[in-house]
Amino acid sequence: MSFRLLVLVSGSGTNLQALLDAVADDAFGATVVAVGADRDGIEGLARAERANVPTFVEPVADHPDRAAWDAALAARIAGYGPDLVVSAGFMKILGPRVLGAFPVVNTHPALLPSFPGTHAVRDALAYGVRLTGCTVHLVDAGVDTGPVIAQEAVPIQDGDDETTLHERIKVVERRLLVEVVGRMAREGWQVHGRHVRFGR
Ligand code: GRF
Repeated sequence: MSFRLLVLVSGSGTNLQALLDAVADDAFGATVVAVGADRDGIEGLARAERANVPTFVEPVADHPDRAAWDAALAARIAGYGPDLVVSAGFMKILGPRVLGAFPVVNTHPALLPSFPGTHAVRDALAYGVRLTGCTVHLVDAGVDTGPVIAQEAVPIQDGDDETTLHERIKVVERRLLVEVVGRMAREGWQVHGRHVRFGR
């Protein structure tokens, strides 16, 4: 039986698209069983619909508080029985109900622990680092603090702005995310403190 992925998105969904393209090959060893979002009308959801993958939307504003949203999101996700949740440009902090029930991986456009948070690319440029990149990591209760699975560097070029740099990072990010998720599906993984190793 194929390894079940549920992908969470908030925007354009190009990382989701890379996963949808990858799972089209049976050798990848996984399927995308659903795509969830915190908002409607985004390209990420349209990509899922075009690939005939079920979608759902769970906005925070539909709930009295974050705890209620967390519980509702956890219930939605549980309905699809995923083996792994992939946060691919999902711009909300996941709560304890989701994180307690499923392993979650996230992709972040910086070399953590440098530049966590929503403006990682802008922050790296403002700091003046010459090298940034992307990180695929397990999600814990903090903001971009979970154990690192894989990282890759992207040099900053003279004249880069947030858009040009982010686009170059995203090219690497999509490849790295697909590589990591594929290995997790095929090989399994173990967590020892801050260290993640592939294999059962
Ligand atoms: C990625 O760079 C992700 O790391 C960041 O937002 C971007 C999402 O891009 N949090 P997309 O929606 O997958 O195109």
